[in-house]
Amino acid sequence: MRVDVVTVFPEYLAPLGLSLLGRAQRLGLLAVHVHDLRGWTDDRHRTVDDTPAGGGAGMVMLPEPWGRALDAVRRGEGPDGRVGDLPAPRGAGDADLPVLLVPSPSGRPLTQALAHELAAEPRLVLACGRYEGIDERVVEDAARSYRVLPFSLGDYVLNGGEVAALALVEAVGRLLPGVVGNPASLAEESHEQGLLEHPVYTRPATWRGLEVPAVLSSGHHGEVSRWRREQGLRRTARRRPDLLAALHAQHPEALGASDLDVLADEGWTPPG
Ligand code: ADE
Repeated sequence: MRVDVVTVFPEYLAPLGLSLLGRAQRLGLLAVHVHDLRGWTDDRHRTVDDTPAGGGAGMVMLPEPWGRALDAVRRGEGPDGRVGDLPAPRGAGDADLPVLLVPSPSGRPLTQALAHELAAEPRLVLACGRYEGIDERVVEDAARSYRVLPFSLGDYVLNGGEVAALALVEAVGRLLPGVVGNPASLAEESHEQGLLEHPVYTRPATWRGLEVPAVLSSGHHGEVSRWRREQGLRRTARRRPDLLAALHAQHPEALGASDLDVLADEGWTPPG
C-alpha cells in the first residue's frame, strides 16, 4: 500500500517510521510519503491560510496550494517532482481513484470496520488541515479525481489533522498482510467481534497481593476461552453497552443463550 500525507508539519508524522510500521516500510509492505504543503505555495512567505469569508475567528486554508498539492500527489509527485512508485491500476472507473482521507471532527467516525475497508485499498492520500479547516472547494474539486472520505477520530476537537492521520495509518497499516507477526492476535482484539477484549495477564502469578485468575493457569483451553468470552461480555456491558445494542441489532445470532445470561447478570438485556 502507498500512503501520501500532505501537511504543514511533516515532522509530526515522523513516528510512522518507528516500530511495526517502520519495519513494514523497510520490508516494502507499506510506502509512506509525507509532503510539506508549503512546497506548493508561490509567495515569499509561503502562505497557506487567510481570513474566513463572511468573517469570524481563526484562519482558513487557501485553495490554491491544496489544489496544486492534490493534483501533484495524485500523479505520484511531491513539490519537487516524482516520489516512489504508484501502485498498478486496479481497473477502470471510480474504483481506480485513490481515496482522499480528510481528517475532520465532522467526518465519518473511524472504526475497525472502516480500517478494514481501507486496508484493501492500494493507495491512500491524507490531507491534514489546520486552523479552522480547508476551503470547502478543495474537497469539491478533489472529488473529480479522488474518492473523498472525511473521517473523525471521535467527538472532540484537535488542533489539526496530523494526530488523526497517525491514528488512521497505524490502524490500517497493522491490518496489511505481514505487518503484525501473528495474524491470530488480530482476530481476538477489541472491536473485531463487535465486543471489547477480555483482560490479559502475564507473570508473576502474584504481584502486590493480586493474583492472575486461577482459570488461566488451569491448562483447560475450553474453560480459558469460556472465561475470556465472559470477561469480554462483562466489560462491554459495563463500558460500552452501545456496542452490545449494535451487535444485537446487526447480528442477533452473535449473542448465544449463555452470553445473554452473562449480560443479564450485568444488567443488560436486548432491547425490545
Ligand atoms: N481534526 C480536528 N479534530 C478532529 C477529529 N476529532 N478527528 C479528525 N480530525 C480532526
